[in-house]
Amino acid sequence: MSLILDEHRQYLSDAARVDALADAIARVVRPGHVVVDLGAGTGILGLLACRAGAARVYAIEEGGMIEVAREICRANGFADRVVFVRGLSTTVDLPEKADVIVADQIGRFGFDAGLFEYFADARERFLKPDGVTIPASISLQAAAVESPADADRVAFWERRPLGFFMPAAAKIARNTGYPTRFQPPDLLSDDATLCTLDASTHVTSAIRADLSLVARRDGMLHGIGAWFTAHLADGVPMSNSPLAARRIDRSNVFFPLAAPVAIVAGDSIRVAFGILPSDLIVSWTVDVVRDGRGIAHSTQSTWNGLLLPREELTRTSLAFVPKRSARAEARLSVLELCDGHRPLGDIEREVFRRHSELFRSPDEAAVFVAEVVTRYAAS
Ligand SMILES: C[S@@+](CC[C@H](N)C(=O)[O-])C[C@H]1O[C@@H](n2cnc3c(N)ncnc32)[C@H](O)[C@@H]1O
Repeated sequence: MSLILDEHRQYLSDAARVDALADAIARVVRPGHVVVDLGAGTGILGLLACRAGAARVYAIEEGGMIEVAREICRANGFADRVVFVRGLSTTVDLPEKADVIVADQIGRFGFDAGLFEYFADARERFLKPDGVTIPASISLQAAAVESPADADRVAFWERRPLGFFMPAAAKIARNTGYPTRFQPPDLLSDDATLCTLDASTHVTSAIRADLSLVARRDGMLHGIGAWFTAHLADGVPMSNSPLAARRIDRSNVFFPLAAPVAIVAGDSIRVAFGILPSDLIVSWTVDVVRDGRGIAHSTQSTWNGLLLPREELTRTSLAFVPKRSARAEARLSVLELCDGHRPLGDIEREVFRRHSELFRSPDEAAVFVAEVVTRYAAS
């Protein structure tokens, strides 16, 4: 059973999201334009581009949704204008350069779903020199929050579940960013912008940002809330901020303090963020200052919240000498047997013969072969 289609139902029923994207596409795409719909899903952004007059759309999609998108496109009479390309955008080639690249591969905190990596590559290989991207840029934003329910996701481990101490779990819990949804009353301060990143920048180095927030009311500081505002086109924002006029249906992130701090209106809350975008590591240090005196200090990082088994840590050492596992050998066999001459049935039989210790039946070997072939074989 796959819930992928239902995920796309949610994307399409998010009126704030689709309205903003449709508005931006209508403003940017001109009759005759070539458009890349990167991460097409149902193909909706490409269809909107066709409606705006695009001469051709390259709809790139790595998942099985591409077949659904193809049918949807045909049913709406745009099959002659949309070219579907199956694969990860960084691994496919297009026959011509585009005027516009559009995508909504934006994470909860703006940087964390790969948009910057995909757009940096796409701008270089797919876009005309004067072409534009939708979104054009993304701002990362944060505010101080009071959220007892989110704080309890950390405190749970400190309450000795079933009477057992669980300090190892508590440490990870304190160093985790949690998906959640804040409401405006949860905010203890205004929000501030960490940075605004051009959507086709290749963000390879760390993002460092110091925020100086001021408590607007008394309350319990449980952590820092984070979200984004994407600037899709001139005057067209799209945001999951609790303060957005039209908020899209995407979670925010809660970064907890080591321990909650009672604050009063006027307290200064200084937050230093360090983000390694491609490794999805976020570090946050929070200092609360009252009348010039520090009253609380907390420093956390998702690096300390990673679940890395000891064996995997050893494997990251430069002295480690890697050796292929039995499954890797079987995968290598499949790739070697895909020589452009042998039919699939022969490959399945040969893989089962060579690796009979791995598979209980020829059918099991066939499933394994299909998984490798669908991913790597050229058509
Ligand atoms: C968030 S959904 C958005 C779908 C659609 N564009 C929309 O706005 O409703 C992202 C889709 O892009 C695909 N995807 C993500 N990154 C991709 C990439 N770099 N290349 C190709 N497909 C990608 C995923 O499989 C998924 O179907």
